[in-house]
Amino acid sequence: LRVGVLFGGQSSEHDVSILSARNVVKAIDPNTYEVVPILIDRTGQWLLIETVQGTLPAAIAYSGTKVCLVPGGRGRLLAFDAPAQAAHPSAIDILFPVLHGLHGEDGSMQGLAQACNIPLVGCGILGSANAIDKDMTKRLLREAGLPVARSVTRKPDQRPDYEDIAAALGQTVFVKPARQGSSVGVSKARSAEELRHALDEGFKFDTKVLIEEFVKAREIECAVLERPDGALMVSVPGEIAANASHGFYTYEAKYIDEDGAAISVPAVLPDEVTQRLQDMAEKAFIALGCEGLARVDFFVRADMSAVINEVNTMPGFTDISMYPKAMAASGIPYPELVGLLIEHGLA
Ligand code: DAL
Ligand code: MG
Repeated sequence: LRVGVLFGGQSSEHDVSILSARNVVKAIDPNTYEVVPILIDRTGQWLLIETVQGTLPAAIAYSGTKVCLVPGGRGRLLAFDAPAQAAHPSAIDILFPVLHGLHGEDGSMQGLAQACNIPLVGCGILGSANAIDKDMTKRLLREAGLPVARSVTRKPDQRPDYEDIAAALGQTVFVKPARQGSSVGVSKARSAEELRHALDEGFKFDTKVLIEEFVKAREIECAVLERPDGALMVSVPGEIAANASHGFYTYEAKYIDEDGAAISVPAVLPDEVTQRLQDMAEKAFIALGCEGLARVDFFVRADMSAVINEVNTMPGFTDISMYPKAMAASGIPYPELVGLLIEHGLA
């Protein structure tokens, strides 16, 4: 069976996706599957990439045969820039979109796969579209009785006064683009001036931003896996402690600064709290209509009350990423995890 691994992509998390895809490609069992890596460049072109001894090349060349998916025929890839005799339309049996953020984790690739009648790893259109949008996510979680941080959602022509925001949400707030990942475009604001800057920054990435109360809390995450038979499994919780120099768990703390954050799996928590978080993670997965996998991120306060911060439907698979670490700590090592995700997509 041939697994089309999509990576790169048009979102601000292009580089993160490459780091994730390197690990996913390496972990796919070569005895069962043939990997067909497809780089999506920043303009959206699909390029076939050759693997080197079962891994992605150390330096990815942004060239190669351009391909597209052909609707109608199940999983037919068509090369369209090669001369007719060299074009080799080939079949892929399943798409694995190792893509983070817009145009990948947001339902668009999932829609393409569906229109092309090709099985897909992970969440479908609805779960992906729900989870990419922090505003929609919160509404659905609240509706399911799950706790979320207080926030307001604003468009570019609805810039609020800091005084009103501070009165409603507290002196310190976070401003987040509604549909981004890896903390891109997120900033903290503690004054009118900072709020103005934070909104400018947020609106660079989306036409909708959330202004959210600051929750003084630990960052705890649970990985959820839907097994091929449909049974849900929730990992032990893991904890991320961002280095205080970054202020919060920023993009730099995640991927640039090697000492940006400390990760502990399992997180040290009372059993009762672990159970409660796992239960909430499962409920959140169901409430958003997720399939296959998702990572549910929490803030846990000193009194052990928790809110769900967000849900990621294609969480990072990089070396520092929590999803595979938390699953490994729960008895599912990386290669088995990747195998289960593909089997789930094919089921
Ligand atoms: N958006 C990044 C990849 C994550 O959630 O891990
Ligand atoms: Mg995210």
